[in-house]
Amino acid sequence: MCGIVGYIGNENVYDILIKGLHRLEYRGYDSAGVALVAPDGKLSVYKARGKVSNLESFCADKNLDARAGIAHTRWATHGEPSDKNAHPHFSEDGEIAVVHNGTIENYKVLKDALIAQGCKFHSETDTEVLAQLIEYIRVENQCSLLSAVRKALRQVVGAYAIAVVEKNNPDTIIAARQSSPLVIGIGENEMFLASDATPFVEYTKDVVYLKDGEIAVIQRGKPLKVTNLDNVETGVDVTTLQMSISELEKGGYPHFMLKEIFEQPRTLRDCIRGRVSDDGKRININGINDHKDKFLNCKRIVIVACGTSWHAGLLGRYLIQEMCHIPVVVEYASEFRYSYPVLDENDIVIAISQSGETADTLAAIKIAKSMGAFVFGISNVVGSSIPRETYAGCYIHVGPEIGVASTKAFTGQVMVLTLLALGIAQLRGTKSEDEIRALGEEVLRIPSYVEEVLKLDKEIRRLSLIYTYAHNFLYLGRGYSYPVALEGALKLKEISYIHAEGYPAAEMKHGPIALIDQEMPTVIIAPQDHLYEKIVSNVQQVKARGGNILAIVTEGDSVIRNIADHVLEVPVMPECLTPIITSVPLQLLSYYIAVNKGKDVDMPRNLAKSVTVE
Ligand code: F6R
Repeated sequence: MCGIVGYIGNENVYDILIKGLHRLEYRGYDSAGVALVAPDGKLSVYKARGKVSNLESFCADKNLDARAGIAHTRWATHGEPSDKNAHPHFSEDGEIAVVHNGTIENYKVLKDALIAQGCKFHSETDTEVLAQLIEYIRVENQCSLLSAVRKALRQVVGAYAIAVVEKNNPDTIIAARQSSPLVIGIGENEMFLASDATPFVEYTKDVVYLKDGEIAVIQRGKPLKVTNLDNVETGVDVTTLQMSISELEKGGYPHFMLKEIFEQPRTLRDCIRGRVSDDGKRININGINDHKDKFLNCKRIVIVACGTSWHAGLLGRYLIQEMCHIPVVVEYASEFRYSYPVLDENDIVIAISQSGETADTLAAIKIAKSMGAFVFGISNVVGSSIPRETYAGCYIHVGPEIGVASTKAFTGQVMVLTLLALGIAQLRGTKSEDEIRALGEEVLRIPSYVEEVLKLDKEIRRLSLIYTYAHNFLYLGRGYSYPVALEGALKLKEISYIHAEGYPAAEMKHGPIALIDQEMPTVIIAPQDHLYEKIVSNVQQVKARGGNILAIVTEGDSVIRNIADHVLEVPVMPECLTPIITSVPLQLLSYYIAVNKGKDVDMPRNLAKSVTVE
């Protein structure tokens, strides 16, 4: 949530910052701003409510000549989206400017103390408190900016990734992190900083992921220096970025979301590669191989995640319980810490997060570790906090997901959970060699099945026109198709703003059935599985009440075809592997409905991709 970017070098900083902000806009887009330090030491701050494009229009007639600066795109936490609450924030004397991602929990106490010292505030943000605090300390102690930042951060409770610049010093940016991501790019005679590496991937592949409690001094013409809050140097650990610029472009698609839906055959191949032998017989997951005793002896698995990742977690429960016979519970990470959790060293906690930065999931991990559980992470963003905070894990390897609505990351997560379940089953002997081989062979075919399903694109686009103007939708599924129903409903509501409920199909008669009429379409996920007969009854129950039905069925289905208003067919496959296949048509359906309604598919209102606040 919120994206920050900074640059120091010989290029025009404004162009680099604006391009960087566009790349980070998935993190928040209710206001944006830049602070530029000109070669003569003049500090100029420009901000505008709304998307980065508004900021660009605002800056069109400004003097933007500078070679150092910082910028921010905001997802509001303290104070409404407005010009005054947009970052960067100034100190009262206009000497320093700060951008910040995170929340300062004790900002009220600090603010009151500063007001008592005569400080005046111009925004409702916690960030302005930090800017004023740093400057107050600097003036009081007559110390350097670095020293003032260090002293100020010692007083701060909360999460932050910050960048600070000062007037009269076009050669230095100070940056620091605590529980919010910050990465520094080291180029030739130039340095970058950002919430993730996307703003500078075309300039350098040499990156340093700042750790919690570290402060970086980024100086023109000097090597990067990193210290902790006690001013002890912690070293500079440079790693090579595995990301290409083409992954950050739309590649001819009108939206990132559509591109990402269509990328799934490739992303799933990348996710499976090296993890299933060519003959399907062996499942090879390093995170399991390196910790066999944990997976052999664990008595329970607890999955923690939020949103779409939580839906993937629900599928993980079905997969692991079916294949490994280990009890699994799935918790919303946001509720986990308030549910009086009971864990011990016999538990494995699996934390799932695309971004690897979700604050609630990170908090759940901390609790799990403190209680002695073995914590395993499943995430997409290499070098993000969750892979670093967990003892072992798996990347989903689907590449940067930029559309705010998660698509390829969801199928990647479900794929990793499928492989994990197969790997644990192989280790514990809960599936025979033949059963593993049969499923392994099918897993290898999934990318081609997804290719087949994507051929429904034209048909789904046509159907979307019929369903665009409904105000409410019900999504139903049973067994493996129940989490798919939840995910389908979430996709629709988050990008089209149509109310949609996902339900286990049999629960419908305990309440939601009262909603059914001709106005409310029901989407039923009904592949041929061991619950097929039961879901046919549910389809009939909806039809008997005049409901309109769109069903996802298995190729050749004739029973539901005769009852439902519309059907979309997916290939025949083993029951436990159907979720990846049945979720793809639902992604396309939500996409086209949102496009028909003229919604901003890649940046839906109020949302941000990386939720780094509680
Ligand atoms: C929905 C969506 C969100 C995320 C949730 C968790 O399309 O993207 O519901 O799934 O915010 O995010 P991660 O997976 O980054 O922890």
